[in-house]
Amino acid sequence: MEDYNVEIITAQESETSSKSTESAPLNFAPVKKRSSFTSKIGFVLAAAGSAVGLGNIWRFPYLAAKYGGGIFILTYIILAVTFGFVLMIAEIAIGRKTGVSAINAFKKLNRKWGFLGVLCAIIPIIILPYYSVIGGWVGKYFVTFLSGAGAQAATDGFFNAFITSPWQPLVFFAAFVTVVFVIVLFGVEKGVEKTSKFLMPALVILTIGVTIYTLTMPGSAEGVKYYFLPDFSKFSIKTLLGALGQLFYSMSLAMGIMITYGSYMKKDNRIESSVHQIEIFDTGIALLAGLMIVPVSYVFSGGSPETLGQGPGLMFVSLPKVFATFGPVGGGILGGLFFALVLFAALTSAISLMETVISIVMDKFKLSRRKSCLITYIGTLLLGIPSALGFGVLSKVSIGGMTILDMFDFLSNSVLMPVAAFLTCIFIGYVIKCRTITDEIELNGKFAMKKFFNVMVKYICPLGIAAILITAILDVAGVLAF
Ligand code: TRP
Repeated sequence: MEDYNVEIITAQESETSSKSTESAPLNFAPVKKRSSFTSKIGFVLAAAGSAVGLGNIWRFPYLAAKYGGGIFILTYIILAVTFGFVLMIAEIAIGRKTGVSAINAFKKLNRKWGFLGVLCAIIPIIILPYYSVIGGWVGKYFVTFLSGAGAQAATDGFFNAFITSPWQPLVFFAAFVTVVFVIVLFGVEKGVEKTSKFLMPALVILTIGVTIYTLTMPGSAEGVKYYFLPDFSKFSIKTLLGALGQLFYSMSLAMGIMITYGSYMKKDNRIESSVHQIEIFDTGIALLAGLMIVPVSYVFSGGSPETLGQGPGLMFVSLPKVFATFGPVGGGILGGLFFALVLFAALTSAISLMETVISIVMDKFKLSRRKSCLITYIGTLLLGIPSALGFGVLSKVSIGGMTILDMFDFLSNSVLMPVAAFLTCIFIGYVIKCRTITDEIELNGKFAMKKFFNVMVKYICPLGIAAILITAILDVAGVLAF
């Protein structure tokens, strides 16, 4: 699925190195050695490959469970086809038009707006460390199942004992980051991506299989109802902000990633239909993962609010119980396979994230790739430590009931990404004007949703995002009680 990424990485390097030798920082002469996706399907697969990761499998299901089930799904889908569509179109078009990655793209379009590129660049720097902490959790479950202790993982308290341990989350986190670092340092992403071409479809098939199995378990019907039927009384500003942040996170929006992808897209590929395909793919996998995980809470605990609302641990607590029903051997193999595949999905996303951060470090500090790798590695390790320990040793540190990991997650997904998305809309609607984007899209064919795009970018998206953000911040600050 990510087999086109290597091309991206190589090209990104050449872009960066040619940049660093330029004397005038605002000289955006076209980069000579820039490669591009050879086909539209190549572009779609690469973008979808980066989009599908823990966001779909780990984050979406727990948010859906926590924020009211069906009402969250409905909100998410509405936001995906409106805000998500508009932003993804805009980012890919900006990338294809400017031919450079986010940190320079905004500056190239308007000198004063370079700061927006910087804001976008900060976001992956915040995400990578805590993403790797969760990657470490997946690693722990993989090792547990592999060593034949899968049945233990299904017991109550196993997950809690793990994340509250003073050293375990740290060791697994450090191991995960180190693997990502070694892959990136030695430039062997190509091998990983080739393998992911087989393993990602395998993950989808296994997920479908496990979903069908859990749906036959007694009690799951209630869970499916909760998951799909919207209960409007459960709607709140948190549902809205949660869905919005998840949308940005899952589709890798509002952090410059899609700008970079767009910069490698050929002028004769159609942006509009590519965006539809990426959205359908990403949302489809998220919905499926949720269907596999959420109803399980009804099978084993009758859908108690504590289970549904437990947050980041949901996948780790519920799935081992399903695997355990296959007995020690069958359950061990199934669980081992499942967590191996999820670990792989997490690795591929973490590799892209680390590559992004490395190119930011190279660009900003004009350092060699090797040095930038090392700095990114050490920085990620240091930044991740508080998140890794936030459930145990540092569990006293919390703001508004959020653990440290939740705080980083909230800061990036619910604060910085909406701000970046809001500013991107203002930038397009009022600074460079919608036409700059729509003309780029119309380079090859009609832009069917042009009117919709214009109205959304100029009015609905910025107003909507601002309203959601302000209300939610007031809510978190406890100024307003909802
Ligand atoms: N979208 C990815 C997921 O669902 C996470 C992610 C966010 C990401 N930003 C990224 C992955 C940048 C690669 C590159 O898990």
